[in-house]
Amino acid sequence: MNKRIAVVSGGIGGLGTEICLSLARAGRRVIALDLSAREERIAQFAALTDGFDIRFEAANVADYDDCGAAIERIVGEDGAIDILVNAAGITRDGSLRKMEKRAWDDVLSVNLDGVFNLCRHAIDGMAERGFGRIVNISSVNGQTGQFGQTNYSAAKAGMHGFTMALAREVARKGVTVNSVSPGYCETAMVMAIADDIRGKIIDSVPVGRLGKPSEIARTVEFLTAEDAGFITGANIPVNGGLFMSF
Ligand code: CAA
Repeated sequence: MNKRIAVVSGGIGGLGTEICLSLARAGRRVIALDLSAREERIAQFAALTDGFDIRFEAANVADYDDCGAAIERIVGEDGAIDILVNAAGITRDGSLRKMEKRAWDDVLSVNLDGVFNLCRHAIDGMAERGFGRIVNISSVNGQTGQFGQTNYSAAKAGMHGFTMALAREVARKGVTVNSVSPGYCETAMVMAIADDIRGKIIDSVPVGRLGKPSEIARTVEFLTAEDAGFITGANIPVNGGLFMSF
């Protein structure tokens, strides 16, 4: 069998990079999709992933047509897409009373529209070929709400609604759709929180530490495996016990 083709949005980001590495180690050909503007990060990413079957492709997930063009290029160059991981995400934190409309629009268009834009362009190919694995990287803060994150929490909760609806639509086509909801991990996004606030958050995590990006990647690899076909519409929390639910 040819290598499975995996596309990871936000592929050069904090979680995205580890997800790319983990999928490549599992024998996938990986395409990291991210903004072309992040030149320095792209160079670091190339060095980190040297020797792995991973390449970079530029696209803005917030732009529907840009996503369509990127998917078309990937299908042409690498082959049909088997695995799509939506890991592109940004924060623009601030309490609602101070939140500019721009901070709402930016977060919703990357974190939620981005999922629609890529899935919409990738889903027909998966359904027609009778195989697909889609994983949406949501967040514990979509489950609980977080102070200063009305935009982010809404987008992340919305992602899981999308996951469940699409899972039903393509379940008979061999395509699974799941969410992973990370807690606070060792990424630049979490390091951007003020030290005192971050310290209090870590104190409240039962495991007593930040998560490692590789711990999220491990879960993504599990959900995208050949034999994971009976898990769909699920949300897998990976949060050190920060939010436990039934
Ligand atoms: N709970 C309750 N009250 C809080 C609070 C909290 N967590 N944080 C601040 N307040 C209070 C403040 O003390 C202040 O009170 P007063 O008006 O009486 O002085 C009031 O609420 C307003 O606070 P600010 O003016 O400081 O609010 P702000 O709009 O500037 O926003 C903030 C503050 C930057 C959002 C800050 O609260 C913060 O950084 N919170 C954490 C946000 C967070 O966890 N982001 C996660 C980013 S990483 C990520 O998202 C990854 C993932 O998926 C897990």
